[in-house]
This record gives sequence, C-alpha cells and structure tokens, in this order.
Amino acid sequence: SKGNHRHFMEKEIHEQPEVISHTLAYYLDFSKGTIRAGSAPVDFAKIDRIAASACGTAYYAGLVGKYWFEHIARLPVDIDVASEFRYREMPLSKDSLALFVSQSGETADTLASLRYCKQQGLSIGTIVNVRESTMARESNTVFPTLAGPEVGVASTKAFTCQLSVLASLAVAAGKMRGTINEEEERQLVRELSEIPRYANQALRLEEQIETISRDLSQVKHVLYLGRGTSFPLALEGALKLKEISYIHAEGYAAGELKHGPIALIDESMPVIVIAPYDRWFEKTVSNMQEVAARGGKIILITDEKGAAASTLKTMHTIVLPNTPEIIAPIIYALPIQMLAYYTAVFMGTDVDQPRNLAKSVTVE
Ligand code: M6R
Repeated sequence: SKGNHRHFMEKEIHEQPEVISHTLAYYLDFSKGTIRAGSAPVDFAKIDRIAASACGTAYYAGLVGKYWFEHIARLPVDIDVASEFRYREMPLSKDSLALFVSQSGETADTLASLRYCKQQGLSIGTIVNVRESTMARESNTVFPTLAGPEVGVASTKAFTCQLSVLASLAVAAGKMRGTINEEEERQLVRELSEIPRYANQALRLEEQIETISRDLSQVKHVLYLGRGTSFPLALEGALKLKEISYIHAEGYAAGELKHGPIALIDESMPVIVIAPYDRWFEKTVSNMQEVAARGGKIILITDEKGAAASTLKTMHTIVLPNTPEIIAPIIYALPIQMLAYYTAVFMGTDVDQPRNLAKSVTVE
C-alpha cells in the first residue's frame, strides 16, 4: 500500500535510506570495514574486462558503474543498451565477466543479451531486484538489490540500490586486483556506509524542490548536464522527467554542449546542471558560464563547497551536503527524482502509471 503517500513513486523515493541500508548490509561488513566475504563471488583478479548491458534506468546505473570499476579497480567496462548489445555480435573474450543490471529480471532485451553471452561461454553476473526472476535463475552469480517491490513505473529506489551494489562491487574488485589497499578499502566502506544518512538529508530538500518544480511544469524543454559520474545522472534526470511529466528533456555530457546543443539555449531554456564539488567541477562551471552568457536559466544542483565556489547567477541552486566523491551519484539521484516527481504532480499526469509505459518490458 501507499501508506500516507500520494503515489507509490513518492513512497519509494522516501524508502531509499532504508532499502539502501539493507542492500549495503548484504555487501559490506561495517564493523570490519571490509567487503563481506562471499558477497561478491567472482574472482575480479582473473577477469580482464566487464561486458555490461541493461535498459533504461538500469543502463544508467551501469554507466556510473563503469566509471567506478575503471577508476577504483582499473578494470575496463564495455557497456551498451541491451537492445544494441544483443545484435551487435561484439567479440567477447572468455576472460570477461558479462554483467547485467535489471530491477525486474524479465526485460526482454536484457534477457536476450544474457542468453547470448551464456552461449558464448561467458560467466554471467546479474544485479537484480526480483530474486525469483528469469535472469536470476539463468545467471551464474546473482548480486541482489534489496529494494523490495518497486511499483511505480519510474524506477527510483531500484536505481539507487543498483548503484550501491555497483559501488560495493567496484571496491571488491579493487581489493582483489590490488588497486586499493586495506586502508583504502576501509575508507571506501566507511564512505558507503554513510549513504543512508546523506540520503535522509537530501530528502529534506523536498519543499524547495517542490517550489522549483512549479516553474519546471511551465516549460516545454529541459536540458540536463553533468560530467564524470554526474553525466549518467544527467541522462537519468532527463529520462525521469520525460517519462512521468511528458516534458521534453535531454541529458548531455557537459563537455558536449558546444558540439551542438548550445544552439538550443535561449531565455526559455532551463538547464539543470549536476555538479558536486569534485574533480570535474571547474570544467562544468565553465560550461555553465556558456549557458548563462546566452540567457539560459540555470538550476544548479551542487553541494556546500560548490555553492561557495560558483559565482554564477542561477535561477535556483539546490545545495546538498558535501559528500565523499564515491557516493555523490547516489545522493544526487534523490533531488533529480523529486524534481521529476513534483513536476509531474503539477502537470497532473498519472505518475505511477505514465501513458504508453509498462513496469517491465517483456517484449522487444
Ligand atoms: O526491470 P529493468 O530494470 O530491466 O527495466 C529496465 C527499464 O525498462 C526501466 O529502468 C525503465 O527505463 C524505467 N521505467 C525508468 O524509470
């Protein structure tokens, strides 16, 4: 049941601190500050690549995972949407791990990609929320997300739980591959254990976000920009908004702006910039300057340090607490979900069951 929430989506957004904490407890031993023995039963030291695929929001989770695996574990990740992956006939090495991400475990294209990799003799690992699903049954290794049933068609808590698993696996891989030492593992585990606390703080921004959403519900187009791990978040923000509010939105890597989309910027174009104060911040701010110079209306999502460092005129600034770099994508997912949610509420759409969409896409 929805309890005292208006929609399942709202309920599921609010459940995130709790379900992320359940998910993390499966992978992390908080008292020892290590990855829990047996929770990642893949020898990451023996594989030379990850071939990943998924659809929609699960694909964006995988895309963030790529940054983590490559940065923390120096493990290259090829990732593609499953509808392309399944027909691409990409050369696969037996030393690769095939990795799939799915809430339902039934998505037709993802399942077909999984079966293709199995036929090629690869070991199959799947991050999945429904433990009894077809994908879970057909995988060699199941990495569960403990999000509980997700009812809203727009994925929220499944996404942040997928990210929590991917971050944990990247740390596990880094440890096995010797790219991080014990002290670094303990530090990362400590940072991951803080996600629920930061997520609760992010939820407190709800009223401000509701106000901003009133403005957003008046526009026809929205651009989302981000760099590094905030780039997939920009894609996810745009997907979430179009999916439930039917407002046209696009996500771009901030550096791509000048290669085309900047032509769209005028006074009527809101640009949502996702920019924690991280190693990409300065670059993203310089892209924002280009938007501001053309009259674009900036909605900046940043942290306290970022808000202090930026001198730009924004229409709105959403200020999150300063977070460790690894957990930022998980925390920034929350304001993005709330923006889409409240905008859709103002538009009066059917938030939990948007038109033309199904919760689980079991046909090609
Ligand atoms: O069940 P799955 O995670 O495999 O589903 C994948 C996509 O269909 C799903 O994430 C879709 O994009 C959501 N409606 C996004 O909110």
